[in-house]
Amino acid sequence: MGALTVVCLLVWTLTIDFTRAKYEPTWESIDSRPLPEWFDQAKFGIFIHWGVFSVPSFGSEWFWYYWQQNKPEYVNFMKKNYPPEFQYQDFAPQFTAEFFDAKEWTDIFAASGAKYIVLTTKHHEAGFTLWGSKNSWNWNAVDVGPKRDLVDEVASAVRAQGGLRLGLYHSLFEWFNPLFKQDAANLFTTNYFPTTKTLPELYDLVLKYKPEVLWSDGDGNAPDKYWNSTGFLAWLYNDSPVKETVVTNDRWGLDSICKHGGYYTCSDRYQPGHLLKHKWENCMTIDSKSWGYRRNAPLSDYIGIEKLVATLVETVSCGGNLLMNVGPTRDGTIAPIFEERLRQMGQWLKVNGEAIYNTTAWRAQKENVTKNIWYTSKPQEKAIFALLLEWPDDGSVILNEPVVTQKQTQVELVGHGPLQWTALQPSGLQVFLPPLSFSKMPCQWAWTLKLTGAS
Ligand SMILES: *[C@@H]1O[C@H](CO)[C@@H](O)[C@H](O)[C@H]1NC(C)=O
Ligand SMILES: *[C@@H]1O[C@H](CO)[C@@H](O)[C@H](O)[C@H]1NC(C)=O
Ligand SMILES: *[C@@H]1O[C@H](CO)[C@@H](O)[C@H](O)[C@H]1NC(C)=O
Repeated sequence: MGALTVVCLLVWTLTIDFTRAKYEPTWESIDSRPLPEWFDQAKFGIFIHWGVFSVPSFGSEWFWYYWQQNKPEYVNFMKKNYPPEFQYQDFAPQFTAEFFDAKEWTDIFAASGAKYIVLTTKHHEAGFTLWGSKNSWNWNAVDVGPKRDLVDEVASAVRAQGGLRLGLYHSLFEWFNPLFKQDAANLFTTNYFPTTKTLPELYDLVLKYKPEVLWSDGDGNAPDKYWNSTGFLAWLYNDSPVKETVVTNDRWGLDSICKHGGYYTCSDRYQPGHLLKHKWENCMTIDSKSWGYRRNAPLSDYIGIEKLVATLVETVSCGGNLLMNVGPTRDGTIAPIFEERLRQMGQWLKVNGEAIYNTTAWRAQKENVTKNIWYTSKPQEKAIFALLLEWPDDGSVILNEPVVTQKQTQVELVGHGPLQWTALQPSGLQVFLPPLSFSKMPCQWAWTLKLTGAS
């Protein structure tokens, strides 16, 4: 063999190597993909549960399920308000969205300080798609109800807004779809439903709308092999138009949650209270009892802004992102109570965002002497942030766990200015807060101390 042949062979082998698909359809390979950086930097997103369940807007987005299960509350609601022959499908034409303006929504989401949104494009209760899916003929928002492609309108408004990234929620399964029920009866040895519905929908969503978060809901009884989850994810990571930036979660079939995929969700309203090694997200909802809109929700079920800020702070301190849910109405509005919470969060983030966005978990998460203080950090700026969920009554606060100060350490109340402090023995410091009147405070729900020159 001549030297030239050897070189040619070598070049050929290298070329093959470079063009070979990077990710294989196995969990080992899929799980090895580094999470695109933007997601950890973003910290805060808005979840939007919208669909046919927004029409009864009673109980929860599991309305159909509970009605089928003969839960008395739901059976009585239907008896009282609808004729006896009324079917769940009859709600769809009333999903009218006449006040829906995607720009109004994205203006509110951007004002909340969120960096991404996640819209339910299809929920497991009905399988109704918010986009004109040809795999959901006559059971989608273009054919029935609004007669508009709601996903397209939201996606376009997100891109026009500029500061948000688009995320799409999609449920793998549909409780009452006959093909899914048939596969289930066959103990998932047949794949009628994923091959004709779920997978074509997933490819369609990615190719049409190019989401940067694909939030899969599929922590059900069907195994990931049934869904061909790793096959789809290998395509998403190797060949899709969003292969560089897309992130996904962990709900890709039975037992994949908290184990496989992209970032972990582990459960709804997940809040481990300590640092996790793996990136995770806390998805929770402002209406503490439902993800979908409820017309009869009492004020007391809506979580207040103090608690929401505290949830964001704890989540970020422990390495998570917060995905905070709102449920729009069937006519396409975001109720003022949700809007107020979102704008309040934005007000708080405007002052304290430097302690949230682009931060890294510090070596300690929670202060161990003074209650209700959580830490974040920015190593590249040598800054430590202590987020105080309460304003101390006696005007000073002790930071012990395990802050090491030096002479040149500076402490600043973010949004206000430098503060006096004194070192404590054997470790930590006491920071003296200024006697500010309520209107002079930089914000009203949680306050940030920024420490530089400490470690
Ligand atoms: C499953 O995914 C693999 C890898 O992308 C693909 O080759 C195969 O056709 C898929 N199977 C089905 C049934 O979609
Ligand atoms: C976070 O860091 C990224 C990358 O360096 C940067 O583009 C972005 O503006 C930063 N975000 C904030 C809110 O500081
Ligand atoms: C707090 O943490 C520091 C540093 O790790 C430790 O020395 C101290 O004993 C802890 N204090 C309490 C009350 O746990």
